[in-house]
Amino acid sequence: MQFVSNLLVCAIALATYTSAVRIGSFNLHQYGSKKAANADLTNTVAQIISDFDLAIIQEISDVSLRAPYVLFEELNKVSQEPYTMTLSPRVGRSATKEQYIFFNRESQSGVEIVESYIYDDIKDLFERPPFIGTFKVKNPGKSGVKLFTIMDVHLRPSAAYRELLDMRTVIEDFIQIHPQYFDQTPTSLQEALDQNVENATAGNKPSLKTNHPILIVGDFNADCSYISTKRQQLLRTIDYVDFTWAINNEVKTNTRQTCTYDRILINGANFANAIVPKSNTTVNIQEKYGMTLQEALDVSDHIPIKFDIEW
Ligand SMILES: *[C@@H]1O[C@H](CO)[C@@H](O)[C@H](O)[C@H]1NC(C)=O
Ligand SMILES: *[C@@H]1O[C@H](CO)[C@@H](O)[C@H](O)[C@H]1NC(C)=O
Repeated sequence: MQFVSNLLVCAIALATYTSAVRIGSFNLHQYGSKKAANADLTNTVAQIISDFDLAIIQEISDVSLRAPYVLFEELNKVSQEPYTMTLSPRVGRSATKEQYIFFNRESQSGVEIVESYIYDDIKDLFERPPFIGTFKVKNPGKSGVKLFTIMDVHLRPSAAYRELLDMRTVIEDFIQIHPQYFDQTPTSLQEALDQNVENATAGNKPSLKTNHPILIVGDFNADCSYISTKRQQLLRTIDYVDFTWAINNEVKTNTRQTCTYDRILINGANFANAIVPKSNTTVNIQEKYGMTLQEALDVSDHIPIKFDIEW
């Protein structure tokens, strides 16, 4: 009997044991054929990414399409548990096109991807239309998060403000083509659409609140000369007042530590509340891997941003 109850305690402990899941985003700055051919650099990039159970990647720039697979292979060499790779098509108005990636270490992240697509940018709003992935939490816990959607972005520096405003069009489109995510929530499809106000004003702010969390993550170029502090204030208090800003100006996300270009915006109280306090920050790769500024710049002109969450 003692043995059986010990076993039971063990089983319960295993079932309820949840370590936090780490989600990170990293702009790899022109990770193309040249960087992919550098084995040491690729190993360093893979090590940095292997810190995350779910990694949201920008700026894969190989015309021959091989670089993402080189990185994927190296990532699975440095990680004990395997990752899956969800790779976007090449996107971009000009000849310099880029791919986005979601790397998912499923055994640790506890999520699986159920769908991904590039936003169908019929109005040509974006230099690089966002890459949208919806993830299912395999064993939903006390957070109550069962599904969530990540919009991976690399906004055009000179149009960052306009493109960020236009992300509400992408959200509206997402809601319209995914009625299934909004029919069993306290917020109906129509309510979600009504609350996602485009071209918001002080008197008509968006208040999108559904229990299908939507995250906008990546390189927004949302600071310094690209988005003034005055416009940042408008975004925070009007256009994106309904989102939690998980990466604020107290951290700098470029390697030179001067600007907060990269951001994580979260709509969904259940998701935002499940984030481990103070885990939302940057990863100082220079310090962590003992690199000089030049070595860190050779990896990327950005450093990763991340948070930990408990499902
Ligand atoms: C928002 O403003 C832009 C630019 O002025 C305009 O093109 C667009 O039609 C407006 N959208 C809505 C929903 O009013
Ligand atoms: C982390 O999140 C908290 C709570 O939302 C916020 O006050 C803080 O500024 C965030 N930290 C960073 C580095 O942005």
